[in-house]
Amino acid sequence: MKKDDKFLHFLASHAKNYGFVFPSSEIYGGINSIYDYGQYGVELKNNIKEYWWKSMTLLHENIVGLDSSILMHPDIWKASGHIEKFNELLIDNKDSKKRYKPELLIHKRINYLFDKYNHKKKKDEILYRMYKSLKRNDLLDIRLLIDELNISDPICGSKNWTNIRLFNMMFKIPEKKLDLFLRPETAQGIFSNFSNVKKSGRMKIPFGIAQIGKSFRNEIVARQFIFRMREFEQMEMQFFILPEEEKKWYEYWKKIRLKWHLEFKLGKDKYKLKNHINLAHYSSSGTDIEFNFPFGFKEIEGIHSRRDFDLKRHGFFSKKKLRFFVDHFPSKNYIPYVIETSLGLDRLFLAIFSSSLKIEKLENGKERVVLKIPPYLSPIKAGIFPLVSKNGLPEIAKKIFNEIKIDHKLIYDQKESIGKLYRRQDAIGTPICFTIDYDTIENNTVTMRHRDTMKQKRVHITKISEEIEKETGLKNILRKLSNDLVN
Ligand code: GAP
Repeated sequence: MKKDDKFLHFLASHAKNYGFVFPSSEIYGGINSIYDYGQYGVELKNNIKEYWWKSMTLLHENIVGLDSSILMHPDIWKASGHIEKFNELLIDNKDSKKRYKPELLIHKRINYLFDKYNHKKKKDEILYRMYKSLKRNDLLDIRLLIDELNISDPICGSKNWTNIRLFNMMFKIPEKKLDLFLRPETAQGIFSNFSNVKKSGRMKIPFGIAQIGKSFRNEIVARQFIFRMREFEQMEMQFFILPEEEKKWYEYWKKIRLKWHLEFKLGKDKYKLKNHINLAHYSSSGTDIEFNFPFGFKEIEGIHSRRDFDLKRHGFFSKKKLRFFVDHFPSKNYIPYVIETSLGLDRLFLAIFSSSLKIEKLENGKERVVLKIPPYLSPIKAGIFPLVSKNGLPEIAKKIFNEIKIDHKLIYDQKESIGKLYRRQDAIGTPICFTIDYDTIENNTVTMRHRDTMKQKRVHITKISEEIEKETGLKNILRKLSNDLVN
């Protein structure tokens, strides 16, 4: 097994064994590329969502939220271009019966052929030809490239390929009158509610609408754990602007979004900005924020200028006026441009989880597995444990737990020795633990133990809640981001 695959395997089994991510429908043998989030996974996911939501709707006074439906009128998908253009190419190998994306096969092959000898010019020529053919939907030429590059099936080595076909990635639900679709992006719920939000909120340009929700895509190559799934969550924000301010806001959101990611402190070198060569059908320019996942740099968030593509098309298909009037010039109106920020929640979860999971060597020669996630995202903020489960210590610990459980997500445990309880909390990323011991009876102090340093200190029981807030409070990080926005 390759080193990357080994780590991904370790990651997936840690996620399963410690209640973060389970394969969906596992008791029936599972289902490809669909996952469930367990008891700690859902807490981590909710904390990420809360952080993103507050960063958008609290820190920007001109961004409001929305929760639109997953199923929408099918004409939305005609207007958005998804029925006609949201397609992927696919090719099957007749011997292995496996399905592939031809572009990925070509990329992999030219990397192998040309990177070793640094033949950049030759590689660029092939890439140019591939993207040109993709743009013209010239499936025959892509098929020719597969033959010319002598590409074989990565699993069985066969070159027995089918023709290349186009495949729409939306899941269709056939209905008597109208076919319904599971939305492939949350953005269309925002565009179709543009007028409602504008009128009911008396919004003035520039303003944004933020939304978190499920999206669905019938992915051909859906692998790499929760990186590419068929059911996933997006955190999207559409920012409506004056057309002449497109460049200004596009640059602004690229900067702000990268800054937001860097605040996780997962490492500056883990991020790259990559301009799109092959733009989505709605996009006039686009940049990906790429993250160094265990399998290399891949897109985590997209920032696109959608210009007036969506509002114009919805205006045309719905025959409603989705326009803005120039305040001081009521006879003039325009369709706002849109800058979109679109982040995959599951990909962010994977980025944080994979970069935070460490195996550390201890001084005594043993190892510990520790999930060093940012404390404000930890599923459990603090553990409260009695040193032993007798002599009145559990009662004191339970009392402390009950008094502060409304303020912070806590865990109470007395099932194992204190060392084992600490290890378990390390593995799920709990930033601090408090242990109630015999000194607590004497002087009302407890041991506070840090996840990352394993250092311990004594604190008074009346200070526990304050200490947890200081170490794990989301407000501290939001305040810092807010100051960054002002400066
Ligand atoms: N509304 C624009 C849009 O959907 P996208 O680049 O196709 O743009 C945005 O998707 C983000 O959604 C991606 O950057 C990625 O994080 C996430 N995403 C897309 N497809 C995904 C999938 N199959 N599984 C998990 N996340 C996905």
